[in-house]
Amino acid sequence: MRRRKGFCLFGVLLTGLMITVGMSSAVAQQPNFAKVKEYRIERSLPPEAVACIACHKASNPGIFDDWAHSRHASANITCLDCHLAQPGDADVAKEHEKYYGRSDLPYGEEQYKVPIAAVVTPKDCSRCHPDEVTQYSKSKHANTIEIIWKLDPWLNKGMNSDNERKVGCYHCHGTVMAVDEAGRLDPMTWPNVGVGRLNMDGSKGSCTSCHTRHRFAVSEARRPEACDSCHLGPDHPQIEIYNESKHGTLYHAFQDEFNFNAAPGTWTPGADYRAPTCAACHMSGSGKVMGTHDVTERISWETQAPLTIRPADFKPFPADNDWQMEREKMKNVCRACHGDSWINDFYQGFDKAVDEYNEVYFKPARRPWTNCMPRGFWISASILTNTWSWNSTSSGIMKAGGREWEP
Ligand code: HEC
Ligand code: HEC
Ligand code: HEC
Ligand code: HEC
Ligand code: HEC
Ligand code: HEC
Ligand code: HEC
Ligand code: HEC
Repeated sequence: MRRRKGFCLFGVLLTGLMITVGMSSAVAQQPNFAKVKEYRIERSLPPEAVACIACHKASNPGIFDDWAHSRHASANITCLDCHLAQPGDADVAKEHEKYYGRSDLPYGEEQYKVPIAAVVTPKDCSRCHPDEVTQYSKSKHANTIEIIWKLDPWLNKGMNSDNERKVGCYHCHGTVMAVDEAGRLDPMTWPNVGVGRLNMDGSKGSCTSCHTRHRFAVSEARRPEACDSCHLGPDHPQIEIYNESKHGTLYHAFQDEFNFNAAPGTWTPGADYRAPTCAACHMSGSGKVMGTHDVTERISWETQAPLTIRPADFKPFPADNDWQMEREKMKNVCRACHGDSWINDFYQGFDKAVDEYNEVYFKPARRPWTNCMPRGFWISASILTNTWSWNSTSSGIMKAGGREWEP
């Protein structure tokens, strides 16, 4: 035993010596231990994809780094998989082809040339994520441009400029993508990551509204911050309501303990988080409830319509579902953390608030105004709220929130 121990000790010493020698020669080469990270692109990637990565690593290290840290990179999904233009695509980046003739750039050679498009749409993602894209395409997110055009038809002509539309409404709702004669993306429509962007391949939306490129991380989308760039302010104060609620308080107090990185579909109330975020209630799976990319699921009232109605009765975009089943899904989300009486009593109060708003506030308030609509000029009546106004230049009454459509 003794001898063996001595031998082992010698071995350890020898190895230690070797490491020290090795290290000192490394120190000699890199006196400051500069932290230069090397990414080796040795996996079986097509040479055209290696070219994208190598050239863009030099020109846009930020894009490269984001991608390199994504789950896509670990699964060998490259720039080419998402940006390769399909035959017939109207938005091919024609100017990009000239970079393949630039010998001063890495891989700037004709042999690597492929057509690419800057816009990556839900249709491009659907090749690998068909379920998420199908669900998304049914949501009010994807279809919001059609909805707001029906509700606010003045939108197309009623604003000062295309730029105002782009940086105003379309920033959140989405632009109608277009290219100029030279095939360049029209700056009045791009860049844009609105939820209902109308893409040139016919698909709707932009998956980057919640999963920013090039990380495309579920951990980001699960946080309320993924939604608050749009769901804020007087018209739709969801983030303010959330932040002031007990759920929001708990999120802010305990988020460091939440496991936002759980694998897709496995994010579990109790185990991974103790207070729900927007995504936990509206999108993520929980117990018996399947996850969904259709935020119109789980909702039983259209509370933003002037008269609160059931989602299936919302004329501009009737939901193809049964509100009672959807409510049951939402209640099942609550059940992970609350008992039935807590949940049912909450919903009873909610239904009562809807009823009171409709019957006690909305209907009596509207009656006198619909009977005496003036013609020929604007009258803004701030008797009830600042948002009640009439515009005789369009077909009828503009209702709460400036909406023109009758429920
Ligand atoms: C030889 C270098 C080189 C190669 C190879 C290369 N690119 Fe580029 N790419 C560029 C440069 C330079 C730009 C312009 C960057 C800028 O505007 O700052 C660019 C721009 C882009 C854009 C934005 C286009 C736009 O219209 O806004 C995308 C998307 C893109 N590249 C993707 C790719 C993909 C995908 C590949 C591989 C199939 C690839 N690139 C290969 C050099 C290269
Ligand atoms: C999983 C799909 C995916 C992969 C992989 C991917 N991209 Fe993108 N890329 C996107 C999306 C989505 C956008 C945002 C455009 C949009 O909203 O349509 C984008 C935007 C871009 C843009 C324009 C954005 C800007 O800020 O200028 C460039 C350039 C680009 N990508 C280059 C690359 C390069 C280089 C790689 C590989 C290192 C890569 N992309 C990998 C999906 C992808
Ligand atoms: C900051 C992001 C943002 C901007 C900017 C924005 N909206 Fe919205 N809009 C939303 C959100 C979020 C909703 C959903 C509200 C809800 O469900 O409570 C919404 C809802 C609507 C609705 C109601 C849709 C329905 O289903 O009833 C209309 C109409 C609308 N917006 C029109 C506009 C117009 C017109 C503009 C520009 C003047 C605009 N929005 C600017 C985020 C935005
Ligand atoms: C409104 C925000 C939002 C938008 C827009 C969005 N996602 Fe997601 N996505 C999420 C959330 C939240 C999760 C995490 C679900 C969970 O907890 O498992 C997620 C998860 C995913 C996952 C992981 C697998 C899964 O289903 O959980 C994929 C893949 C995905 N999204 C693809 C897409 C694609 C493709 C699009 C565009 C059609 C898209 N997402 C648009 C919020 C969004
Ligand atoms: C060529 C196939 C392919 C394409 C195209 C593709 N993805 Fe993925 N994506 C994958 C694979 C494979 C994974 C799983 C990686 C893993 O779990 O390690 C993944 C994972 C994801 C995740 C989960 C990441 C996480 O944090 O767990 C999201 C979100 C996602 N993709 C969004 C998108 C979006 C948005 C697009 C389009 C812009 C897109 N993907 C295009 C193959 C693809
Ligand atoms: C880029 C802007 C944007 C982001 C980011 C965004 N939304 Fe929305 N959301 C909208 C708009 C615009 C609407 C209104 C659609 C309509 O009614 O026309 C909306 C509507 C909704 C609705 C109402 C759906 C219905 O059928 O009435 C829910 C619920 C919702 N969003 C949840 C979320 C959640 C959860 C997130 C984050 C995970 C999120 N949204 C992120 C813009 C956004
Ligand atoms: C505790 C769960 C929970 C959380 C957390 C939550 N919501 Fe909701 N949300 C609900 C419920 C319940 C409703 C009402 C559903 C109904 O009509 O039956 C609702 C309604 C909405 C609506 C209105 C839909 C309509 O058409 O009337 C929007 C938009 C929305 N939520 C977005 C968000 C956003 C954004 C966040 C995060 C800032 C968030 N929610 C956080 C449960 C939640
Ligand atoms: C991940 C767990 C979780 C989920 C899911 C969840 N909650 Fe909660 N909720 C909590 C916790 C924890 C509290 C704090 C209770 C306390 O005050 O001690 C809370 C508080 C509340 C409160 C009291 C708010 C106040 O200000 O006093 C209500 C009401 C509520 N939840 C309703 C719901 C409803 C409705 C749902 C489903 C749509 C839901 N919760 C989903 C964990 C959750």
